[in-house]
Amino acid sequence: MGFQWDDKYSTGNDEIDKQHKRIFAYLDELEDKIENGSATEKWASDFLSALTYYTRSHFCFEEVCMRRTRCAVAAKNKTQHGKLIATLGKVQLRYEIEGLNDHFLDQLRKFLTSWLVNHIMKVDIQYRECSKKVSPQKLLAESK
Ligand SMILES: [Fe+2]
Repeated sequence: MGFQWDDKYSTGNDEIDKQHKRIFAYLDELEDKIENGSATEKWASDFLSALTYYTRSHFCFEEVCMRRTRCAVAAKNKTQHGKLIATLGKVQLRYEIEGLNDHFLDQLRKFLTSWLVNHIMKVDIQYRECSKKVSPQKLLAESK
């Protein structure tokens, strides 16, 4: 059973929500691979790279939105993002050393799911009020 999107995760910005949904889709993919026992070395290494790449670009976009609207949680958000990117770097390193194993994938799934839900519920949803200040289209155009 994959992750269920709920309006309680909404940030008030459709683009940010769309990007969050994409990250949850990555987690669904991870869960499927664990359940089916179908993860391969090649898949895991591609998965870690793609997830890190996508997460970085999502964080950049979200940080621009928060900075642009002078959102109260902008600095806190950026700090938490930086910590996750550092952790993902360590995860990648650990993968290169240990290689693929069930424990590694399971720990990764639990960590990412709890980090993401916690971060969205405690920080990202505080963007709702700020999102009313600038149109999402304008922010999207500015972030490119
Ligand atoms: Fe965030």
